[in-house]
Amino acid sequence: MAISDIKLIELPRFNDPRGNLSFVEQNNQIPFSIRRTYWIYDVPGGEDRGAHAFRQTSEFIIAISGSLDVTVDDGVNRKTITLNRSYYGLYIPRGLWRTMDNFSTNSLALEFADTPFDRSDYIFDYQEFQKLKDHGEI
Ligand code: TYD
Repeated sequence: MAISDIKLIELPRFNDPRGNLSFVEQNNQIPFSIRRTYWIYDVPGGEDRGAHAFRQTSEFIIAISGSLDVTVDDGVNRKTITLNRSYYGLYIPRGLWRTMDNFSTNSLALEFADTPFDRSDYIFDYQEFQKLKDHGEI
C-alpha cells in the first residue's frame, strides 16, 4: 500500500436546527467489515500517538470532536492530513506507517479497525518497516 491508497472520505451529514447528525456503515463509508472500535481521548498537549505500522490491519479514523493531524508514510512519501470535522473519515489501509499528533484540547479520535487487537500485527521500528517495504513484504 502507498500514500495514494489513503482516502479522506466525506460522510453523510444531516444538518438540522436541532443539531447535526452523521453516520458510518461498514462496507459502505467504511470500506471494510468492522472488527474493532477504539477511541483516543484526554491527550495532553504536545503528545504523539501511533508511530507504528500494521502488517494486516486497515483503519478508519474520525475526529469526532476537536482536531488532530495524522501523518502517513509509505516508506518513500509522507503526507499529513488534518482531521478537524466530525463528518470526514480517513481510511488508512494496512502496511503504512502512521503518527498522530497536534491533538486539540478535548479532542476525541474514534478509530475503526478490520482486525481484532493483535500485538504481533504491529511494526514499531521504522527501519524494520522500511526494510519490509523495500522487499515488498508489506
Ligand atoms: P497503541 O495501538 O500503541 O496506541 P496508539 O497507536 O494510539 O498510540 O495502543 C496502546 C495500548 O493499548 C497498547 O498497550 C495496546 C492497547 N490496545 C488494546 O489493548 N486494544 C486495542 O484495540 C488498541 C488499539 C490498543
